[in-house]
Amino acid sequence: MALMEKHEILEKNATLLLVASLLVVTVGGIVEIAPLFYLENTIEKVEGMRPYSPLELAGRNIYIREGCYVCHSQMIRPFRDEVERYGHYSLAAESMYDHPFQWGSKRTGPDLARVGGRYSDVWHVDHLIEPRNVVPESIMPSYAFLKATPLKVANVAGHLGASAIVGVPYTDDMIANAEADLAAQANPDADTSGLLARYPKAVTGDFDGNPAELTEMDALVAYLQMLGTLVDFSKYDETAGYR
Ligand code: HEC
Repeated sequence: MALMEKHEILEKNATLLLVASLLVVTVGGIVEIAPLFYLENTIEKVEGMRPYSPLELAGRNIYIREGCYVCHSQMIRPFRDEVERYGHYSLAAESMYDHPFQWGSKRTGPDLARVGGRYSDVWHVDHLIEPRNVVPESIMPSYAFLKATPLKVANVAGHLGASAIVGVPYTDDMIANAEADLAAQANPDADTSGLLARYPKAVTGDFDGNPAELTEMDALVAYLQMLGTLVDFSKYDETAGYR
């Protein structure tokens, strides 16, 4: 019997075809799924990643509340044009503590994954108050009210604790100091040694130009200034990964 004729048996017998199809799908499924149970982690570890500081987390909440993600992505794709414009392409580990992630699907404005440190705090404040003052052709809305709105976070420690439950490595020390760390990061007179030990590379100081008051602008700028700054890419090898 030629191969085609053997196949004819399958094609003419619906039950047999169904059983054979199921068998094929089962084998394919096992081959694809089984190895995942033996992988410890699908996210490559990189040095420098840490959970958000309480102030950065508060700023991130404002970013989400204001829908910044509607116009801004936070994921640099591994294409030459993107890497030349925005910097090293994003690594999975860089958004591993994001709940939810902010990759976005629309770029009305530029990608913000590595905007941290690119502009001064003053630039960000001016830009958020009135984008057209610094970028005349900008169509970004004004967020001036952030500077006039005191930052109110109902339960900082609770937010850290909830994040810890879903896998963000907030320690008991971080949770116990959450309230104090939130205030210290935006207070130019505060002792920030504890904060910096818990959250290395955190940008500190008065962000919004008004040290007397902790505003939503302080939190949002603190968040923007740390985006994409945690991983040291001078130690990261594209082909071999982190070493
Ligand atoms: C309606 C779309 C839109 C929304 C919503 C929006 N932006 Fe923008 N954003 C833009 C555009 C367009 C630009 C480029 C022109 C400019 O710099 O103003 C931009 C630029 C920026 C830049 C400068 C980026 C760079 O690399 O030069 C930052 C930072 C920024 N936006 C932050 C924010 C934040 C934070 C929010 C939310 C509070 C936000 N944007 C909401 C459209 C938007």
